[in-house]
Amino acid sequence: MRKEFIQKGKRKKEKGLSGGVSLKRQIKRQNFVRGRFKEDISGLAADFTSSLEADKKLAQFDIEGSLAHLKALRKANLVSEKEKKSIENGLNIIKDELDDGTFKFDKKYEDIHINIEKRLIELAPVAGAKLHTARSRNDQVCLDFRLYVKNEIKRIASVLISLRLELIKSAKANIKAFLPGYTHFQHAQPVSLAHHILAYYEMFTRDFIKLKNAYTSADFLTLGSGALAGVDFNIDRQLEATLLGFEKVSRNSMDSVSDRDFAIEFNFVLAMIVLHLSRFCEELIIWNSEEFGFIGLKDEFTTGSSIMPQKKNPDILELIRGKSGLVISNLLALFITMKALPLTYNRDMQEDKKPVMENAGVVYNSLYIFKEIIRTIKFKKSNMLLQLNDDFIYATDIVNYLVNKGIPFRYAHRIVGRLVNAAKKQNKNMSQLSLNDYKALSGYFEKDVFNLFNAEFSINSKKTYGSTALRMIKASITECEKEIENDRKFL
Ligand code: ARG
Repeated sequence: MRKEFIQKGKRKKEKGLSGGVSLKRQIKRQNFVRGRFKEDISGLAADFTSSLEADKKLAQFDIEGSLAHLKALRKANLVSEKEKKSIENGLNIIKDELDDGTFKFDKKYEDIHINIEKRLIELAPVAGAKLHTARSRNDQVCLDFRLYVKNEIKRIASVLISLRLELIKSAKANIKAFLPGYTHFQHAQPVSLAHHILAYYEMFTRDFIKLKNAYTSADFLTLGSGALAGVDFNIDRQLEATLLGFEKVSRNSMDSVSDRDFAIEFNFVLAMIVLHLSRFCEELIIWNSEEFGFIGLKDEFTTGSSIMPQKKNPDILELIRGKSGLVISNLLALFITMKALPLTYNRDMQEDKKPVMENAGVVYNSLYIFKEIIRTIKFKKSNMLLQLNDDFIYATDIVNYLVNKGIPFRYAHRIVGRLVNAAKKQNKNMSQLSLNDYKALSGYFEKDVFNLFNAEFSINSKKTYGSTALRMIKASITECEKEIENDRKFL
């Protein structure tokens, strides 16, 4: 204390701050400032280092993990039967407290693991203090996080299946609805609306497969890795894996405590899902415009304007599209946090939870709402058909007509190109040109060329597997239905 006073005095002199205020008062004031500063920084540092806010979502998995670890401790005779019972009892009390919201989180303890352990030791002072034997928070946190990710994958996979089912339903109801297919956002060739919808089904099916792969990556038990080098006790890791539902036990303790690939993979799939959602939303927003008028949205998925009474804005679709930015950036955040980290656990890795948890929440909600939009959307088929009155969309069919008569494709393409020019010049549609206009460009044209200006005819002219031909669509719907039945087994 004395030393401190002397030092303070010295500093004052150095800075020449003695002024009119007495040295004693200055020191007093300085002490006051210094004291506060100290306190503030320690509070700030505690907040800064805490992961409790994100960790709370790990609580149930932390208890589950501890219960399994306890069985392994018992098997290794590291706790007595009595101690095991009292730890179990304590953990169950904590579980109830967490469930009914009476658990007192203490910010003083930086994460959920310590919060739970402190409470356990309060409830069972001797036995409780043994639970952390043969365990480190390093292997504990990745255990919890893996359990969390596996659980979220199942939840998201389930809503993804519901969305895929809605898409199949919607496709089935719209096989005979025709609209322009676009390339470069220009009329390209007529397609069935079902084919367009099923294109998105394919994207979400790939996402589903990727989700299953991410699950496999998360499906390793890391307990038994300790801080990094393994543990000095005979812990039955296979028993823990079986109890916790892990397919495999991790092979290298150093990799185990520093691996977050599973989290990145999960976030990658979530980013792909929102990428697909954002593309679909964009199309529906366009289709909902006055110019297109291809769809009607249920009121609950739109909002009015505070100033323009006529407005019915597709806000939900816009928000799903908008939130996709956050989800993709969270994938990058996690990548960048992990990049260049040396082995093994580094505290940087505590930043892994927020980007994953935030994404899981946004993606689940987006999928859920989007599925409801698809379920209730109204397709305005007559407006779609109107767009096919622009019959230049059949130009490719006319080329193929000539090809079928033996004209080499490149020449046929050129002839029809001239036909398009002739129609544009006369300010007419292609079907409004006379047979003579056609014949002037190729003697192979007959009256039947006018049958080509028909969406269903054009669509059914497609022969390949995977095309928009109605029989192909029907076949693919049957395949999709079988596929989805099989995918349900994952849930
Ligand atoms: N809260 C930490 C995290 O989320 C738990 C692991 C802490 N390990 C340590 N050595 N400080 O990463």
